[in-house]
Amino acid sequence: MRLKRKDLLGIEELERGEIEQILSTAESFKEVSAREIKKVPTLRGKTVINLFYEPSTRTRTSFEIAAKRMSADAVNISVSTSSVAKGETLKDTAKNLEAMRPDCIVVRHLSSGTPQMLSKYVSCSVVNAGDGAHEHPSQALLDMLTVKEKKGRIDGLKLSIIGDITHSRVARSNIYGFTKLGAEVTVCGPPTMIPPGMERLGCSVTTDMTEAIRGADVIMMLRIQMERQKESLFPSVREYSRLYGLDDAKLKGAKDDVIILHPGPINRGVEISSEVADGPYSLILDQVTNGVAVRMAIFYMLLGGTREEAQFK
Ligand code: CP
Repeated sequence: MRLKRKDLLGIEELERGEIEQILSTAESFKEVSAREIKKVPTLRGKTVINLFYEPSTRTRTSFEIAAKRMSADAVNISVSTSSVAKGETLKDTAKNLEAMRPDCIVVRHLSSGTPQMLSKYVSCSVVNAGDGAHEHPSQALLDMLTVKEKKGRIDGLKLSIIGDITHSRVARSNIYGFTKLGAEVTVCGPPTMIPPGMERLGCSVTTDMTEAIRGADVIMMLRIQMERQKESLFPSVREYSRLYGLDDAKLKGAKDDVIILHPGPINRGVEISSEVADGPYSLILDQVTNGVAVRMAIFYMLLGGTREEAQFK
């Protein structure tokens, strides 16, 4: 099954059925990473370019591994050592990369809307690996896969997303994704970190951490993004951690079968304590494992063949 679109730019534009198809394809790809020889020939001859204008550990590595496990050729462009550092525009970079006939460009950029712009410049597929505070679709898909795997469903679950909502592309993509799949989403954080009008995205809003934790089936903690804060949005890191950091004491108010997610990288002792991040409710490393399967599914559904072929030998 191929997606009926050239690009994956955001979760907002996806229909529920498309999300479900990506998740079920990712489930079938998980098995490949458990094999001794972690490679299938499905995308042999395809070329993927990772174009990252911002730092990344999980997303970039995961897209590269996903491409290689599908036998595609993966090329990583580090902006600091490319001609972007000499002032080359996005359009020129795009046109020059396109001249080398890639099948897909995976892009991360600090400005919202860059993947959409890039898509207009090139005929190959474009995958958004995170644009400003806008969207991070592959992160939300791997989060949904992790929850579905653990809870058996998403429909009817209560998800609380806690932290710096204003700067979080992860929060936006997850609000779109989880609400489309029937979950009840609440966002929580200090008033200075929740932009007005969040309810329009279909979620509830609270500034009370106790309320956000109580009754949640899934708690998603967000990283405090120091690099995106132009002004100080809370008095001190210590104050933030006391009020909105998740530790064992606050977790006592959660359901017995709650699960904890965090997209990473984590600020230990700020938004999440080490005992929670490394504790029995945490699925943080499962999220990373699922990231490879989700990105294999994305490549497959944009560049590959049929759903049946995913059950390759
Ligand atoms: N979750 C995530 O996007 O991590 P990286 O910034 O390391 O890619």
